[in-house]
Amino acid sequence: MNSCVVGLQWGDEGKGKVVDILAAKSDIVVRYAGGANAGHTVVVGDTKFALHIMPSGAIRDGVTCVIANAVVLDPEVLRGEIEGLAQRGIDLTRRLFISDNAHVVLDYHKIEDRLREDSLGNKRLGTTIRGIGPCYADKVGRSYAVRMGDFRNLDRLSETLARIVDYKNRLLAGLYGAEPIPLDPIIEKCRIHAQALCRYVVDTTEYLHTAIEAGKSILFEGAQGTLLDLDHGTFPYVTSSNSSLLGMPSGCGVSAKLVDRSVGIAKAYTTRVGEGPFPTELDNEIGQYIRERGHEYGTTTGRPRRCGWMDAVAVRYSARIGAIDEIAMMHLDTLAGLKELKICKAYRIDGKETTFFPANIDRLSLAEPVYDTLPGWEEDLRKVSRFEDLPQTAQTYVGRVEEITGKPVTVIGVGPERSETIVRT
Ligand code: GDP
Ligand code: IMO
Ligand code: MG
Repeated sequence: MNSCVVGLQWGDEGKGKVVDILAAKSDIVVRYAGGANAGHTVVVGDTKFALHIMPSGAIRDGVTCVIANAVVLDPEVLRGEIEGLAQRGIDLTRRLFISDNAHVVLDYHKIEDRLREDSLGNKRLGTTIRGIGPCYADKVGRSYAVRMGDFRNLDRLSETLARIVDYKNRLLAGLYGAEPIPLDPIIEKCRIHAQALCRYVVDTTEYLHTAIEAGKSILFEGAQGTLLDLDHGTFPYVTSSNSSLLGMPSGCGVSAKLVDRSVGIAKAYTTRVGEGPFPTELDNEIGQYIRERGHEYGTTTGRPRRCGWMDAVAVRYSARIGAIDEIAMMHLDTLAGLKELKICKAYRIDGKETTFFPANIDRLSLAEPVYDTLPGWEEDLRKVSRFEDLPQTAQTYVGRVEEITGKPVTVIGVGPERSETIVRT
């Protein structure tokens, strides 16, 4: 049984929590896209783990973690995660495998990300400044890229880095008048990265196919969300990878035909960090209420997240793109205390109603949400463990999202902790 977990909104839907839960019944968890722009939270008792590159299966004993080809890997961040987990008694020896084809994020990518965003003023994208766009651009451009397998030959890598840093310095000085980046510290850091990480570097495609043939159960962990997908999201306010489920096969070399269960994660409302259109945004005291109750501040950057009503048009679109089987709806508890709740069931664009999400932002920015208004509830849901024990209004709310999206909601989050989860059978 292989499963895939993917975000159906603009990221931060609660993927880390769901992956941690499903990992209990998996042998291997695979991160297939994105990099340290992701921040996946797992809460176990009083302990909170915020993972950026490490698959969220790391917290489960005996689960093997794979970082696949299409991840852009910041070695500094990953080393920090390996050490941080070791300090909490979680040893990754012999249970972490990194693709030799995964591209490496180095300091000059983060510098380039920052310089570009700063230079754009009000045209900036609001990136995480983790070097994601510049690293994927170098991957696609091919001539100035470094991959994890390159750490195996440090002499050759030093020569490559000399060529790359020279190129970057000319580029960044010309475009932004930037100070030159010194080469030696980058080479020195790469030596240290190689020492710490080479032991984990393998051909993960071979590893995964061997595991599939041996009948192992694999869980594929998406990062970001479908609406941030480079090709299917709200371009240019997206990330630089295929963060929808469609990125899974190309990201790790395993066909989507081999996925038995696709779980789309959506919050009971909507959030977004960074710039870009957001039809159901609540730039008012209700948005502020959701932000504070849901602790909606970025796991990676600490930025306040923009909050809004559940956009079931967007979730339905993402569920179609990924051929999602079921939805996990997180943060239902956060909505408690609001008298009325709204669910967006259609958009009005140029006077016409549509239920299809236009990813093109010229059309999306014209979209006026058409809402259903439902009664809210006062009760604290955190101790509820069965769907039937939810207040009737909360059950109706979930049912309405199922009707509009056409997908069953099989998992409901009622709190951040691992156990604060309703699983419907
Ligand atoms: P991810 O990027 O999709 O893994 O999500 P993040 O970890 O960035 O953000 C989700 C946040 O919501 C984290 O702080 C989680 O601990 C928290 N969380 C997840 N599910 C629930 C839930 O059902 N209720 C509440 N109150 N918090 C949740
Ligand atoms: P997880 O996996 C939410 C957003 C950034 C910005 C845009 C581009 O935790 O859900 P980038 O640094 O990727 O070039 O930024 O994408 N973004 C995320 N938003 N959750 C994420 O990851 C995100 N990763 C990137 O805020 O708007
Ligand atoms: Mg996150």
